[in-house]
Amino acid sequence: MNSDSHTADWTAQYVLQNYGRFPIAFERGEGGYLYDESGRKYLDFGTGIAVCSLGHCPEVMQKALTEQGGKLIHCSNLYQIREQAELARFVVEEMLQRPGKVFFCNSGAEANDALIKLARKRAFDRLGLASGKNEIITCQRSFHGRTLGGIAATGQEKVKIGFDPLLPGFLHVPLNDIEALEEAVSDKTAGILFEPLQGEGGIHPVAPEYFQKADELRKKHDLLLMFDEVQCGSGRTGDWCGWRTILRDSGVEVEPDAVSWAKGFGGGFPIGSIWISDEHAGALGPGTHGSTFGGTPLASAVALAVLEEVQKVGALENVKRQEARIRETVGTWNSPLISSLRGVGLMLGFVLDSEAFSAIPGFEESGQTPALFIVNRVMEAGMLTVPAGSDVVRWLPRLDVPDAEVDEALSCFATVLKTLENEMEGSE
Ligand SMILES: Cc1ncc(COP(=O)(O)O)c(C=O)c1O
Repeated sequence: MNSDSHTADWTAQYVLQNYGRFPIAFERGEGGYLYDESGRKYLDFGTGIAVCSLGHCPEVMQKALTEQGGKLIHCSNLYQIREQAELARFVVEEMLQRPGKVFFCNSGAEANDALIKLARKRAFDRLGLASGKNEIITCQRSFHGRTLGGIAATGQEKVKIGFDPLLPGFLHVPLNDIEALEEAVSDKTAGILFEPLQGEGGIHPVAPEYFQKADELRKKHDLLLMFDEVQCGSGRTGDWCGWRTILRDSGVEVEPDAVSWAKGFGGGFPIGSIWISDEHAGALGPGTHGSTFGGTPLASAVALAVLEEVQKVGALENVKRQEARIRETVGTWNSPLISSLRGVGLMLGFVLDSEAFSAIPGFEESGQTPALFIVNRVMEAGMLTVPAGSDVVRWLPRLDVPDAEVDEALSCFATVLKTLENEMEGSE
């Protein structure tokens, strides 16, 4: 950090201390790189945790921000909003390619809150309050956001501690355990909500048979099947829809009743959204839900510009191509610190062998998890990655990442691993 900077002091003094932050402040970003206050350059393979789909400050976003910013920034949802309608059309016609309706909000947690409300309201409309059909089933290790709805839905204890009483009506089942899912679902279930590819929980893809069982249970128990694509959606897997990438070539075809997005959907501009199939969209009629800032002209114009650019530059194909390149090289590494590479598209998780870390001098003393330890060492080498839980390091580069940046990342990461291996006790 630049010694002239007041960022660290003022952050400590004035900003709520609810985040564990790295001691770096970035001043500017360009494409795949960030520059800190001392001018040091970092290759960004974290993209703000899967947010900056087209990297930093892409021209297309700058243009949409200035053009729309000079025309109309905010307009209430009391009125029709052309840019919002155009973005909704894109979601339905290009991303989903299934008839439905889109609601806009400002974050992933809000989008998931909307899904929870949708499932409950739809059950209420059909069967009334007395039916008690209001339960939502989610998966263990899931992450659905920090609102009260989000933490109740999230399948991790750590986000809930101290916030009781929690919103009732949530059941968490082990991911990919078909019997547990079948056992948990009843006529009280209003919806099943899961991330097709768990992000914060450690990059765990849902198995095709699990999708199939959820689909079967939806029909049997008249409930909604809802996917949280906040992190794995918007093109990150190499398709607009993460579940379609996962299910491709599996012989299983399952489509949800509703989906949530945020993060990469706006490429760095804050916007969240949900899509609801036409069959169920009526449950959230006039007066049932809303957001002052949901789908403003500015947010909508910027998000549409980002998504159209992803399509125009062939970023979805690039995601698949770069995933293959990464897998090919990583497959040759043979590092004792890495036990596997998990994930889909450019949402990849290096699974660390925690036990091997104890042989690294200084690791135990650092008090860090293996994931944090690697993230720090890689950061010192000039590359940004993101931990997921204690033993997974995520790579989440921009969707249009060029070969040169992928090569640089592979070389930087491999060098850090090699250096650590050489430091390990017992190494030659
Ligand atoms: C799958 C998933 N859902 C929801 C959220 C919450 O999104 P936000 O932080 O925009 O509220 C996240 C954030 O990491 C996420 O990964």
